[in-house]
Amino acid sequence: MTIIRKALIRDVKAMHGIILRCSASDDGMVLPRAFNHLYSHLRDFYVAVSEDEEVMGCVALQICWEDLAEVRSLVVAKEHRKKGLGKLLVEACLSEALTLGIFKVFVLTNQTSFFQHLGFEEVGKDSLPQKVWADCLNCPKFPDCDETAMVMDL
Ligand SMILES: CC(C)(COP(=O)(O)OP(=O)(O)OC[C@H]1O[C@@H](n2cnc3c(N)ncnc32)[C@H](O)[C@@H]1OP(=O)(O)O)[C@@H](O)C(=O)NCCC(=O)NCCS
Repeated sequence: MTIIRKALIRDVKAMHGIILRCSASDDGMVLPRAFNHLYSHLRDFYVAVSEDEEVMGCVALQICWEDLAEVRSLVVAKEHRKKGLGKLLVEACLSEALTLGIFKVFVLTNQTSFFQHLGFEEVGKDSLPQKVWADCLNCPKFPDCDETAMVMDL
């Protein structure tokens, strides 16, 4: 049985490992996240855990503005992929956005078919507000971003 729940402090080491392994091995499809980032943004994160509390995946929903939130750091550990966990994690974010009264969620991603499958649509990056790009300055890929912006209207 898989449980999707808010991340707890005790999950952080496992989340760090999953994100780091993925960033090192999956062509940098997610950015590595330092412990400092994970602790200070912990309330944004959801985890997918097994019955015995093994962390199998994680995702974060970050509020950007009054009408916009971002899905970030979505990773499912390689051995647990293709079992529906990625979808469940994104759905947890969408559900939280709705609860908060935020009706637009975006993602910057290389996994366009996965997000398309979930109902996201490709948009031009310049359609997103400038506020979104503040973090890009800290990205190792800046300014050669190879990600596609995708949006879901809820
Ligand atoms: C992208 C990722 C999170 C998907 O996780 P997953 O648990 O394997 O995906 P799911 O099993 O939940 O798939 C949900 C649906 O999307 C489909 N899907 C999964 N990966 C897909 C892909 N790369 N392209 C198209 N469809 C895909 C599945 O077939 C499934 O379809 P269904 O609902 O009709 O059965 C996972 O592959 C991963 O961690 N990749 C590396 C990190 C990454 O790229 N993260 C995204 C950063 S924005």
